[in-house]
Amino acid sequence: MSSISSIRGTNNTINHDENPFKSWKSLLIPTNIKFKPTSTDHAFPIFLIKSTLAISTVASIFLILFLAFSNQSICLPQYDTVLGNFSTSTRRTTTGDDHEKTNISHILFGIGGSAKTWNDRRHFSELWWKPNVTRGFVWLDEKPPRPERMLSSSSSFLPYRVSANTSGFRYSCSYGSRSAVRMARILKESFELGLENVRWFVMGDDDTVLFAENLVVVLGKYDHNQMYYVGGNSESVEQDVIHSYTMAYGGGGFAISYALAAELVRVLDGCIDRYHKFFGSDQKVQACLSEIGVPITRELGFHQLDIRGDPYGVLAAHPVAPLVSFHHLDYLQPLFPNLTRIDSLRKLVGAYEADPGRTLQQTLCYDLRRNWSVSVSWGYTVQLYPSLVTAKELGTAWLTFKSWRTRNPGPFTFNTRPVSPDPCEKPGLYFLDGIVRTGAGRTVTTYKRHVHYSENVCDRVDYTPALAIESIKVSAPQFNPDWWNKAPRRQCCEIINDGTQGVLGSVVKLKIRGCNRFESLTPP
Ligand SMILES: *[C@@H]1O[C@H](CO)[C@@H](O)[C@H](O)[C@H]1NC(C)=O
Ligand SMILES: *[C@@H]1O[C@H](CO)[C@@H](O)[C@H](O)[C@H]1NC(C)=O
Ligand SMILES: *[C@@H]1O[C@H](CO)[C@@H](O)[C@H](O)[C@H]1NC(C)=O
Ligand SMILES: *[C@@H]1O[C@H](CO)[C@@H](O)[C@H](O)[C@H]1NC(C)=O
Ligand SMILES: *[C@@H]1O[C@H](CO)[C@@H](O)[C@H](O)[C@H]1NC(C)=O
Ligand SMILES: *[C@@H]1O[C@H](CO)[C@@H](O)[C@H](O)[C@H]1NC(C)=O
Repeated sequence: MSSISSIRGTNNTINHDENPFKSWKSLLIPTNIKFKPTSTDHAFPIFLIKSTLAISTVASIFLILFLAFSNQSICLPQYDTVLGNFSTSTRRTTTGDDHEKTNISHILFGIGGSAKTWNDRRHFSELWWKPNVTRGFVWLDEKPPRPERMLSSSSSFLPYRVSANTSGFRYSCSYGSRSAVRMARILKESFELGLENVRWFVMGDDDTVLFAENLVVVLGKYDHNQMYYVGGNSESVEQDVIHSYTMAYGGGGFAISYALAAELVRVLDGCIDRYHKFFGSDQKVQACLSEIGVPITRELGFHQLDIRGDPYGVLAAHPVAPLVSFHHLDYLQPLFPNLTRIDSLRKLVGAYEADPGRTLQQTLCYDLRRNWSVSVSWGYTVQLYPSLVTAKELGTAWLTFKSWRTRNPGPFTFNTRPVSPDPCEKPGLYFLDGIVRTGAGRTVTTYKRHVHYSENVCDRVDYTPALAIESIKVSAPQFNPDWWNKAPRRQCCEIINDGTQGVLGSVVKLKIRGCNRFESLTPP
């Protein structure tokens, strides 16, 4: 969720305290938890449902009566007027050369931060921010303590702006932070800068990591002259139930097209007061969009990461969609076993820079000579199973994490499968070790075997040959971003050294390629 809670504690450890309020009060660490700990939790939603039902019943009766007793010629001109207004506003919002493909300079980023915590959190933005390429600002509540430091090094960092005073707005969510008001207004303040040639406003938190090239590809699919609201849900169903399925979660980041922003800024301040009860900035923005009538367009590459524990399962079985964002990484285990959080991220970003579109894309193949299955999550991990596992199972996320609020093993907005404690049920795990760009726009990534020190190793005979595999090398062509404009399909792979040429060694080599006609991962 958005960093309404921009003030952060001095350590990065996950707070396992069962009562989130306790941590809030005793440590003054507003975690990013959207908690509603009391039993009155559901009072508001139920009230809302009831009143919505009541209102809609009254409204439908009214509508029926209206339709019955009015004649249609009254309605039609109104409809035309709406269409007419729509097309004039379309023309008005057209900026720059509209025929050009959407590129990175068409995006204006608005990152929600705070002066006190920016120094602790800026490393997330620095991972993806490209000076003189990405445009935008981190919006702070006040001037940072040493602005000259931010300015002197500003060539490599996001420039900052100080948000307008929001003390005049209402905010009445008892378990939230008032800064949600300021965050919600970032969109309006960004819009009002009146910068040239902006097609999309992209909002994120100070702990959001964005994958800008992929974001451009995703937004490029949509016409910025129409009203689009693009983003993703929370992974934890409990969060979606409390905070809505219809909202693009702010921590995962979301995008608002210029045409939509132009309408939204006119009503946003009123919405902020009207929805003063809502916890988060993203919720307030969505409430306002619901007044305009624009629903979320879901893209599966936005990751709010409302999960606890190890995100491995999510990252190893990514949907067939470009990776757009990560969030909450300070609350999760490092992505790579032997690295710190930030070094893990740098490693993944390193792979990303070599081939943005392919990052985390899953590829599956069988070695039918040895009855092995391999699952690659490009740039991150490989799993080697000494058996033939169905594609359906390999594509289902391993449950290495828990839900965000209650730390339960689900439910999530996607399917999961349990991790068996039996070592003979587990695949060999390999993590990215190196990446080499070869000629002809190809990469070779190497994944090294990882065994946790406390882990038992399966001693069954049929496991022995698989255990001998120390590393896996994956050769792949550069991912063409245009493929994302086609019907999505997982790419195919084949094992190159399947032993038919003699010596096996301790390396499995495989090649990723487009699938052939009638090709499928079907066991014999
Ligand atoms: C639509 O256009 C009409 C006349 O052109 C104008 O009176 C009306 O205020 C416009 N409505 C909106 C919502 O802009
Ligand atoms: C993006 O497209 C605009 C045209 O709308 C062009 O002027 C600009 O140079 C392009 N920027 C990049 C980084 O390609
Ligand atoms: C960014 O642009 C400014 C002004 O054009 C220039 O002075 C600066 O060196 C550039 N920075 C980088 C990192 O290219
Ligand atoms: C914001 O406005 C309120 C009332 O207008 C004022 O009391 C407060 O000092 C202002 N805060 C800042 C940071 O300027
Ligand atoms: C991680 O560290 C352990 C022990 O320090 C070592 O045995 C193992 O090879 C390392 N794994 C990777 C992937 O570097
Ligand atoms: C692979 O599996 C098939 C069918 O289950 C079996 O007939 C064959 O012997 C197995 N091959 C190896 C090398 O284990």
